Amino acid sequence: MGSRFSGKVVLVTGASRGLGAATALAFADEGADVAITYVSSADKALALVAQMEAKGVRARAFHCDHGDSAAAAPLMDAVVAHFGKLDVLVNNAALGVAGKTLDDPEIDNAAVDRMWAVNVTGTVSNIRAAAKHLPDGGRIVNIGSSVSARLPFPGITDYGATKHAIHGYTRGAARDLGFRNITVNTVCAGIMPTEQSGMTPDTIPPALLEALCIRRMATCEEVAAAILWVASPEASYTTGSIIDVTGGSLA
Ligand SMILES: NC(=O)c1ccc[n+]([C@@H]2O[C@H](COP(=O)([O-])OP(=O)(O)OC[C@H]3O[C@@H](n4cnc5c(N)ncnc54)[C@H](OP(=O)(O)O)[C@@H]3O)[C@@H](O)[C@H]2O)c1
Repeated sequence: MGSRFSGKVVLVTGASRGLGAATALAFADEGADVAITYVSSADKALALVAQMEAKGVRARAFHCDHGDSAAAAPLMDAVVAHFGKLDVLVNNAALGVAGKTLDDPEIDNAAVDRMWAVNVTGTVSNIRAAAKHLPDGGRIVNIGSSVSARLPFPGITDYGATKHAIHGYTRGAARDLGFRNITVNTVCAGIMPTEQSGMTPDTIPPALLEALCIRRMATCEEVAAAILWVASPEASYTTGSIIDVTGGSLA
């Protein structure tokens, strides 16, 4: 165990599985007390809490639907009531509704609308609610994607646009909160073997790998490492930026 985040309280949203779970574990490995949220996977969230507590840190799972913007303020209040403060917010929870062009008659518009609510409104609400709790020098980390800057193929218009929106909000929030030395950054994740991607190193289509400089999937741990760096004291002068952990897809 390291101690880079000893004494810090970190909230990672959507951390019952995938990148969120890997990030929560990485913070706990560095001594942070960690709050996580989940919406449906209570068993996985509680198992992760037990795994983090076994490392000697405090941990707690909060049920929260980030598709409901009214849930953000009570969540931040509950985290601070339990842990005493909040130092780092990682907005990881997101849905990845994709695969159909916007004019496809079979597109599920309700699912697309919910994705906007979780990915964009949820993130914005969390930032607004957390801002009043974060101390001088606090950290906000948003999660982007290789489609945060370009949309290289059809069928990802809405998902990609939600990530573009996060890009823009990151810059504005960095301006608004910079006078308090709170940094706001987006870490763009590459394609990882999670439930959202539905891919593994064995099943990822070769055409997707050909778009990368490093021709393999990312691991959740590689992306988590960048999240921890930008949340650390070493990154105190990095804000409003997009950190590319996509294997060079944006190169
Ligand atoms: N996977 C990739 O290849 C990839 C690539 C680029 C960027 N990303 C981004 O990386 C982040 C993590 O993705 P992932 O692949 O780890 O996703 P994932 O495996 O689908 O996990 C999503 C997590 O978010 C939670 N969640 C979903 N909707 C929620 C809601 N309404 N309220 C609260 N929690 C909610 C889920 O909780 P439950 O288990 O309770 O449902 C789960 O813990 C996302 O921002 C995603 O867009 C992923």
